[in-house]
Amino acid sequence: AAERTGLKNLYGDDFLVGTAISNQTLANDDQYLKTLIAKEFNSITAENCMKSALVQPRQGEWDWELADRFVEFGQQHNMDIVGHALVWHSQVPEDFFVYPNGRPIDRQELIKRMDTHIRTLMERYKGKIKIWDVVNEAIDEDKGWRESAWFKTMGGADYVERAFRLAHEMDPDAHLIYNDYNMHNPGKREFLVNVLRDYKKRGVPIHGVGLQSHVGLDYPDLSEFEASIEAYAAEGMRIHCTELEVDVLPVAWEHTGANISDNFEYADELNPYVDGLPADMQERLTERYVEMFKLFLKHRDKIDRITLWGSHDGESWKNNFPVGGRTNYPLLFDRDKQPKPAYFAVADLKR
Ligand code: G3I
Repeated sequence: AAERTGLKNLYGDDFLVGTAISNQTLANDDQYLKTLIAKEFNSITAENCMKSALVQPRQGEWDWELADRFVEFGQQHNMDIVGHALVWHSQVPEDFFVYPNGRPIDRQELIKRMDTHIRTLMERYKGKIKIWDVVNEAIDEDKGWRESAWFKTMGGADYVERAFRLAHEMDPDAHLIYNDYNMHNPGKREFLVNVLRDYKKRGVPIHGVGLQSHVGLDYPDLSEFEASIEAYAAEGMRIHCTELEVDVLPVAWEHTGANISDNFEYADELNPYVDGLPADMQERLTERYVEMFKLFLKHRDKIDRITLWGSHDGESWKNNFPVGGRTNYPLLFDRDKQPKPAYFAVADLKR
């Protein structure tokens, strides 16, 4: 068969095409997969290895093994490396919000811990990591700022701008992002646009917005997704479509006639496709990817990067969410690390 041209080359004039790198890939040093990733992608994001619980499992105890490997891999292949994520309410070490005696920390102590965390990571990878997800998921749907442990301990949302100011001070050349899910949601959009205007007025350094693209076959409405690309870009933000994958469940379950629980979490048969997705579902997946990439291409002047949330179906978090034991098919490469029809269709848009 003719050699494939990687997506990174096909989309070279449009935007970066990236993937998340899982801990398995780093820990197992999977050479086949690493070669595939290097050929297809020119940007990588740390799926888990740079989150605070992994990098600093206990206060003052750092574990750099996987994070260092991740950065080294990106450097070897001249990739734009994305650090994910400096400030997030999830995957935080157990002792992060408490003193050793179990007493909750106060605002001053949180500022100290946040500063140490940001300084330590950004110092270590200065000049190597060009793009940082500085703050992740700090907004709660229609309600404004998320009332997370960060928010509560700080007594407000000023930790967000502090994080951006400090990150900029640590590396003035780094591209700093606010990353979140459901960014197409009009309530979230309106709230964030106001925040961005306020930040601009007060000189808070933020350069881009990451729209996590955890989409399904039938959601979200892409016109809302597009409205958000336009709205954030109009505030001077570069657009990053991060964490892209297409969940085929529960649509594909319904298709088999499986008995599905009311909350759509369980089907009576979690893994109905012994030989992979049936052809018509495969086609829907392909169409959805094509639709997404057409939208990305339409806004290529605003978009810096598209990042898939995983390199192949076998390692997608969608096999474990909202419950474990699922078999999902959300990515461009299958469990045998072979390109799917969706891959070829996305590639063909550029031939
Ligand atoms: O490392 C442990 C392993 O030792 C243990 O045996 C195993 C048993 O469950 O768990 C492993 O940790 C898991 C970790 O992924 C690494 O595989 C955690 O349980 C699991 O919760 C964790 O899930 C990650 C999730 O964030 C956590 O919230 C997913 O891989 C990761 O894809 C996902 O990514 C997030 C983004 O960072 C932010 N946006 C949403 C997105 C999806 O949730």
